[in-house]
Amino acid sequence: MNHLLSARQFTPEYQDHLFNQAEEMRSRLKYPDAWRLLAQKHLGMVVASMFYEPSTRTKLSFDSAAERLGASVIGTEDAGTFSSAIKGETLEDTTQTIGRIADVMVLRHPQTGSAEIAAAQNAIPIINGGDGKGEHPTQAALDLHTIRKEKGRLDDLTVVIGGDLKNGRTARSLALRISQYKSNKLRFVSTPDFQMGSDIKEQILSTGTTIEETDEMYDAFKDADVIYWTRLQRERLDRPKEDDIPIFAPPPRDTEEAVKILQTKMDYVMNKLNPKPAERQPSHFVINQAELQVMAEESILMHPLPRVDEINKSVDRDSRAKYFDQVENGLYVRMALLDEFLNQAAEDRMPKEL
Ligand code: NCD
Repeated sequence: MNHLLSARQFTPEYQDHLFNQAEEMRSRLKYPDAWRLLAQKHLGMVVASMFYEPSTRTKLSFDSAAERLGASVIGTEDAGTFSSAIKGETLEDTTQTIGRIADVMVLRHPQTGSAEIAAAQNAIPIINGGDGKGEHPTQAALDLHTIRKEKGRLDDLTVVIGGDLKNGRTARSLALRISQYKSNKLRFVSTPDFQMGSDIKEQILSTGTTIEETDEMYDAFKDADVIYWTRLQRERLDRPKEDDIPIFAPPPRDTEEAVKILQTKMDYVMNKLNPKPAERQPSHFVINQAELQVMAEESILMHPLPRVDEINKSVDRDSRAKYFDQVENGLYVRMALLDEFLNQAAEDRMPKEL
């Protein structure tokens, strides 16, 4: 794997391999001798951690994974402000620059497709840490790891994925991954406005995995093995605000950009003249004690976090709540992944004629 851009790049065989490697990391981190040895492994290598969007778990677990493998971390958690992006530098140029300085780059960016843009520079391996409304492949890898650990299998499962499926990249990547395994049923729970994108649904259906769509939480939960709940992605809602209108934007560089700007301005004016009814939000999709009662005893409740209001804090005490275990599994999965990327980067650094 040269770059990790989409959940589609993982195969069930690779996930098995990753599961074993990640569990190996978990056991090594239990014993001081083993973890000290591990912390020598990639000494001298550098991971660039470039986050153009806020993050707690993804950034810190990648940074922690790198440090525990002996690599150093450079980068910024507010790359939009603290990199030359604020001066107008393109992502392509920033990537080329980092390619001369670091060995692997973890990128989170608000633009869908940004990881592909960075990877096209062919500078160093790029790991997609979340690209806008696109994908979040390492989250899906740790989600599958958690399901396999808890349920003992990744096939023959009924998996409910609920919340803001239209804008949530973790839901999109997880759905793609679940459809790689036999006899799984996917059940999407949301309002019609926030249902899963047709691009993902088409790919899932082509694998033979069945999809149900509903806004009925209780019915959906009854026979589910896994319930994966997500928050409303408020920051990604398309509501034109005065500040968003690029009236003072610099002159467009090409026609496509000019058309886009004109369209945004027109949408804004049309919306002022004829306001849309308030968007229905899946805010009533809250998991509380009553919802726990409906869930099967042996089911598990997952969430990529951050949780806002959609899972009540009292639910955390229930043994089916696995969201903080997901965070810990994420560290081991990211250690296993980075270990391989750093091995590859070290190999790429060696002169070819040797
Ligand atoms: C998610 C993300 O950034 O897409 N968080 C994460 O990485 N665990 C989910 C979210 O922000 O809702």
